[in-house]
Amino acid sequence: MTEQQFGPVTQWLSGMPKAELHLHIDGSLRAPRLLQLGKKHGVSLPYGSVEEVEAAYNFSDLQSFLDLYYLGASVLRDAEDFYLLMKDYLQVCRVQNIVHCEIMVEPQTYLPQGVELGVVLEGFDRAIAEAKSGWGQSVGLILSFLRHLPEADCLEMLKAADPYRAHFCAIGLASAERDFPPAGFQTLYREAADRGYALTAHAGEEGPPGFIRDALQLLSVTRIDHGVRATEDEDLLHQLAADRVPLTVCPLSNVRLCVYDTLSEHRIFDLLGRGLCVTVNSDDPAYFGGDLLENFAALEAGLGMTKEQALLLVRNSFEAAFLQSDEKLSLDARLQDYLARNP
Ligand code: HPA
Ligand code: ZN
Repeated sequence: MTEQQFGPVTQWLSGMPKAELHLHIDGSLRAPRLLQLGKKHGVSLPYGSVEEVEAAYNFSDLQSFLDLYYLGASVLRDAEDFYLLMKDYLQVCRVQNIVHCEIMVEPQTYLPQGVELGVVLEGFDRAIAEAKSGWGQSVGLILSFLRHLPEADCLEMLKAADPYRAHFCAIGLASAERDFPPAGFQTLYREAADRGYALTAHAGEEGPPGFIRDALQLLSVTRIDHGVRATEDEDLLHQLAADRVPLTVCPLSNVRLCVYDTLSEHRIFDLLGRGLCVTVNSDDPAYFGGDLLENFAALEAGLGMTKEQALLLVRNSFEAAFLQSDEKLSLDARLQDYLARNP
């Protein structure tokens, strides 16, 4: 969908200051850049053209996506690659007025290629510094762990990240959910809490609502990535609403990974209407057919999103951010300013 085709609510949202809180940086690696870096490093890929890459993005579930996602990330080898990857995404933030973003970085993905965290952050730092000085971009990084790997490996990575502690605002837990429940990562989360990280985790995407409960109780997370399967548990919904536990919902991702057959089955506005702190995010925009605004546009086209709902979702994105209260106040002020000019 191009900007000209956006409905009126999404057009109104396009200039509005917004936050995106659920974005895997490897999931923002678009086909042209993927092919360019694959060629640069002589990585053999099963694709010859942008069309062939995009034709392969036809997923049946989370695992079928993850297989291609890790293959794609294997082209990232040096600091310049990570600079370009981050720069590309931060340009999207600039164009779409995503004034604050929280980005998941998964250093375990790069270890098989022998790429250390220091190299990754060298590239990211340069792109983030340019975006900060260029247009005042606000960025948080989330140190995200791969749950299909043993907890001992995750603990080793947590320790390897100690010299870079100040780079990250939080830790997260991603990758294959169903066979790797939260209960297996209690030591990791305790160690991260001791180090002062904020805590989030993917839960209730493909996994059952019990995984959301366990992420809250056993891992002490204060935010849930996805969480859409909470709709299957009335008591949990009450708890999430009462405690205003943010859910970072990713509508296009949920459809592309077959959590729902069509967007019309998505329950995001039921969750919002019941008082949950729901936010909208793009997850892996290169793979799922759209950035943040395209996700809003899909909600407008498929579920009739109103201006009131859209504004609530944006306000929630500020409330749910891992920011200090003075930083949130300044985002609210920018939003008020926009609303005064664009009621
Ligand atoms: N779920 C779990 N892990 C992921 C995802 C997701 O949607 N995207 C990238 N890693
Ligand atoms: Zn995700």
